[in-house]
Amino acid sequence: MCGIVGYVGNQPAEGVLLNGLKRLEYRGYDSSGIATLDDKEQPHLVRAVGKIAELEKALIKTPLTGNMGIGHTRWATHGGVTVENAHPHHVENVFLVHNGIIENFKDIKAFLKKQKFNSDTDSEVLAALINHYYKNGTKLEDAVAKALKKVRGTYGIAVFSPLEPGKIVTARLGSPLVIGLGNGETIIASDASALLGYTRKAIYLNDGEMAVCTADKVNVFDLSLKVVDNSPEEIEGDASQIQKGGYDHFLLKEIMEQPTTLLNTLSGRVDAKKGTLRLGGPNLTPSEINKIEHVVIVGCGTAYYAGLLASYYMEQLVPNLTTEVVVASEYRYRSFHLPKNSVALVVSQSGETADTLACLREIKKRGVKTFGIVNVVGSTIAREVDGGTYIYAGPEMSVASTKAFTAQAVAMLIFAGMLAGHRGGDPAKLHQLAEELVALPDEIAKVLKKHQGQIEKLAKKYAKYEDAFFLGRDTAYPIALEGALKLKEISYIHAEGYASGELKHGPIALVDETFFEVFSILDNWLFEKSIGGLQEVRARGGRAIVFTDSKREIEADDVVRIDTDIKMITPLLINVLQQLFAYYVAVKRGNDVDQPRNLAKSVTVE
Ligand code: G6P
Repeated sequence: MCGIVGYVGNQPAEGVLLNGLKRLEYRGYDSSGIATLDDKEQPHLVRAVGKIAELEKALIKTPLTGNMGIGHTRWATHGGVTVENAHPHHVENVFLVHNGIIENFKDIKAFLKKQKFNSDTDSEVLAALINHYYKNGTKLEDAVAKALKKVRGTYGIAVFSPLEPGKIVTARLGSPLVIGLGNGETIIASDASALLGYTRKAIYLNDGEMAVCTADKVNVFDLSLKVVDNSPEEIEGDASQIQKGGYDHFLLKEIMEQPTTLLNTLSGRVDAKKGTLRLGGPNLTPSEINKIEHVVIVGCGTAYYAGLLASYYMEQLVPNLTTEVVVASEYRYRSFHLPKNSVALVVSQSGETADTLACLREIKKRGVKTFGIVNVVGSTIAREVDGGTYIYAGPEMSVASTKAFTAQAVAMLIFAGMLAGHRGGDPAKLHQLAEELVALPDEIAKVLKKHQGQIEKLAKKYAKYEDAFFLGRDTAYPIALEGALKLKEISYIHAEGYASGELKHGPIALVDETFFEVFSILDNWLFEKSIGGLQEVRARGGRAIVFTDSKREIEADDVVRIDTDIKMITPLLINVLQQLFAYYVAVKRGNDVDQPRNLAKSVTVE
């Protein structure tokens, strides 16, 4: 949440910082700002409310000179959305950008007694505390370290002072920071996507570390200013992956590129001929796999739903295994117990979600092995799990998650298949799973091509509604939840996902002609029961869209029939069409599809 950039080098800083902020805008976008230091050691600051485009306009009026500076794009936590609350904050000579939350900011304010504040933010309080220690020739890093020792909460910060030109001090605790090492330039960012195109070498700061950055050198310390060994790593990806590539929106690009990204997720992991599935990351021996009794899957939002979908398949495929899927924000505070021989799958696109990370740490404390199902390479969760796998979906720029959902689900299906293969799971089912997974990229491409026009028309028809139910049974239930989430996130239509069987236990009271329902009906042993739910809704005036792989007769307002040889993992095909549906509804309603109101992609605060 919130994006940070910093630059010290040989180019005009304004352009680099602005470019970085645009790439990080998905982390928060209610206000932004840049501060630079020019050659005459004069600081300059411009901030604006709204998206980065507003800052860009302000910078045309007031260009900032200098080859070093810091920038920030905000997702408000403390204090409303105003210019005063936007970052960078400065208190005398201390200029600071901050991600995270300073929990004891009130105590610090009381400690600073006479200090006047211009904003309502906890971040300005941190700037004031650093300034408090930044007196009488103290070095900036000393003042930062002293201040951070007093702080309770989370932070990723970048700080400079006109008194020490050419130097930016950064630090992290619970909020990611990566430092790119260029040729005579250093770029700091809250995620590596801002560094693409500048450098491939970067230092990922760990919690409790700080760094003193100049154009040619980066030294990493702990808060006692003891040197820490933190070697640079190679960053993956290229700048083209974070461009729209001819699409109107990142969301559409990310939906449409799923056939390609899935090839990366599957690569080297599934053999359709032999019916074998394996993930290298968990590093489990056959005897360890045999001992697993319980799998707990942890995530938030879309990652949670991907976990829920995977759990249905795990139960079907792996003998003698219990599964449990939990929402991280709840689980982290529950007095949970895990059975002996449990393993945890920690699912996160960003690898930075605060609640998921907190769960990971709680689970580790209980001595349970943790495996990450993560997209962003080098992210905190990926670094802290005992083992794990990257889903290789590539950078996901749109706030609403699409290609990551499919890739997360697929990675966990491979995990399930791996377990089943070692534990006497039905070989026929395993063969089918392996074959269908290998076929999935092409099937998704076919379905997108065939139904795109139809879905766009449907979206136009249903965009006027304000309420929707998404309904499904068995493996279609998690995708009903995910379909509803996608629609509400970007269209702002009130949408709820339910297990169809629950309809009668309350939700049906709401059904009338002002609602529309989206049913996912699979051509399986629950077909008739699912049709029953559909009829009950229609009898009460509800409008129904049905997504199905069945050729059987279905009476509904609109039926999207998917023609596919896939049988077991059809929900993943339906889900892709639900993603398209949400996309076109949001476009029709004139919404900001990639950066929907109030949301942020990477939720690094509680
Ligand atoms: C936010 C995003 C969602 C995402 C969730 C979990 O709410 O807007 O799209 O599903 O966080 O994020 P993660 O990065 O942990 O998968």
